[in-house]
Amino acid sequence: MRTHYCGALNGEHLDQEVTLVGWAHRRRDHGGVIFIDLRDRDGRVQVVFDPDTETTFATAERVRSEFVLQVRGRVRLRPEGTQNPDLATGQVEVLGKQLEIINTSETPPFHLDDDAVSEEHRLRYRYIDLRRPEMLQRIQLRAQVTRELRRYLDDNGFLDIETPILTRATPEGARDYLVPSRTHPGEFFALPQSPQLFKQLLMMSGMDRYYQIVRCFRDEDLRADRQPEFTQLDIETSFMNEEQIMQLNEDMIRGLFRDVLAVELDNPFPRMTWHEAMQRFGSDRPDLRVKLELVDVGDLMQGVDFKVFAGPALDPQGRVAALRLPKGCELTRKEIDEYTRFVGIYGARGLAYIKVNELANGREGLQSPILKFLPDDVVMEIMQRTGAGNGDLVFFGADKASIVNEALGALRVKLAEDRGLMEGEWKPLWVVDFPMFDWDGDAERWNSLHHPFTAPKEEHLDLLESDPGACHSRAYDMVLNGTELGGGSIRIHRTQVQRRVFELLGISDEEAEEKFGFLLDALKYGCPPHGGLAFGLDRLVMLMTGTTSIREVMAFPKTQTAACLLTDAPSAVADTQLRELNIRLRPIAEKPAAS
Ligand code: AMO
Ligand code: AMP
Repeated sequence: MRTHYCGALNGEHLDQEVTLVGWAHRRRDHGGVIFIDLRDRDGRVQVVFDPDTETTFATAERVRSEFVLQVRGRVRLRPEGTQNPDLATGQVEVLGKQLEIINTSETPPFHLDDDAVSEEHRLRYRYIDLRRPEMLQRIQLRAQVTRELRRYLDDNGFLDIETPILTRATPEGARDYLVPSRTHPGEFFALPQSPQLFKQLLMMSGMDRYYQIVRCFRDEDLRADRQPEFTQLDIETSFMNEEQIMQLNEDMIRGLFRDVLAVELDNPFPRMTWHEAMQRFGSDRPDLRVKLELVDVGDLMQGVDFKVFAGPALDPQGRVAALRLPKGCELTRKEIDEYTRFVGIYGARGLAYIKVNELANGREGLQSPILKFLPDDVVMEIMQRTGAGNGDLVFFGADKASIVNEALGALRVKLAEDRGLMEGEWKPLWVVDFPMFDWDGDAERWNSLHHPFTAPKEEHLDLLESDPGACHSRAYDMVLNGTELGGGSIRIHRTQVQRRVFELLGISDEEAEEKFGFLLDALKYGCPPHGGLAFGLDRLVMLMTGTTSIREVMAFPKTQTAACLLTDAPSAVADTQLRELNIRLRPIAEKPAAS
């Protein structure tokens, strides 16, 4: 139906007869001449109709926004002074000779140029929202990303293998989505949180190199970078160690940024141990564009006469840390109060600070509600350690280490955003040397930091029983600009080690047999050493398109309450369906409000 895409026309097509199809983006009447901006996937071009061609002109007069049109006409230069440098086709226009209205449109719920439309409205009419050029571009870039990733993995001998969606619960730590079985009354499938166990089984099958662009399902609290169903680029290899796996994946991501964005990422990516990341940045996915760092001052606070600091300083699980903000003296009382509220989100009970007006004046040169609690030598040592100078402000966090890390970790990024302190555009890194387990004080048990199939470092095997907290894993995470892009590990390939890890996690032999018996069995029949990782594809594309929510790079995302506004899913089902599934509903507690 067309000879060209609208967005492809330029000076090279002058005087050519073209046939275009697309949507009427806008129609303007200008003293007897009608302009229609015709839009398709590729862009838009201005079509002019003048009254000489009477019937065509009459048709043009009937055109409204979002009508579907076919136009035949001649490409010509726009008159001097009417060229539009913001538009790819802005040098030219099409003089319309024939016009057919292929389909009409009701007045759309919003105009595509309106950027104040609520997200709810956009999601309800997603098919219209997706017509917007920025949405089209993101979807196109996403397709380009998957094409490049597939090409790289195909070239490197990886096999694209599908794994089941109707399966057993997989242990990635979130809640499962369940699917009732009709043929097995009272029993349920779980949708996979990841293909973790299947990809390990594929290594045991000798597939050697596997990948899959695969949907994963996790019923968890949603955030800007979390959706209940999302896409992973999932990878597993045999007979490769962590160095080789990291190298291969780093090369893939570097190549991707080069080919798609013409961006050259660091080579090699810097590496940081988990411990260093937590100490310096309070996060296991530090944003290295932010130079502000946490500095430990707990040792100075053990004897001070300020319980808020002395308590955590003396608590082995506690932390007292300082964060210097250059030129922070500029902050007003109100701004400090706002940051205090901000860290409150992460459980911090306050946000002490010292403003450094004039360092040479000692105490007199400082300004702070907590100064009275701190002796001179402590104050001066804080200044020394944080490197604070005149005009700076030093924030403090004191609490359980996990709270201080989360609160000050988030604060450093917030401060940098608010005050223009981001440096550099792309800061990738690997975080390595993770602990195997963290202690859940409430439940009094160890949890896996990655998942229970992650191998401990060989030299830490003995710590599994004697000092689990000190046992490090062979896991690695790729982080970009403060977002965890992907993570993985070398896996356990020996039955005995897997059993020891299950035991430590409080998974009894019976439970292990019931839940993962097939894996434990498979480990017995010649399991190769193997490992891999998975990238969050939506997050990767989110970063590459400069958006701040993965909903912006998914064609049909769900809301914060995990609903689809377009199809109105989830929804009630007929009694007959429930009966077939042997399900009887209890009275339903209140439905969460749609977001
Ligand atoms: P993990 O649970 O770390 O590892 O997930 C891998 C990557 O998937 C992305 N991701 C998400 N993206 C959007 N919405 C979500 N709800 C969501 N959850 C995770 C993140 C994350 O880095 N099987 C292991 C991988 C392995 O060990 O090979 C796994 O799934 O970018
Ligand atoms: P207070 O004595 O509770 O008024 O606190 C004095 C200062 O310490 C205030 O600036 C509080 O914001 C700050 N503060 C209180 N609790 C904490 C905490 N856990 N970590 C850091 N600062 C705190």
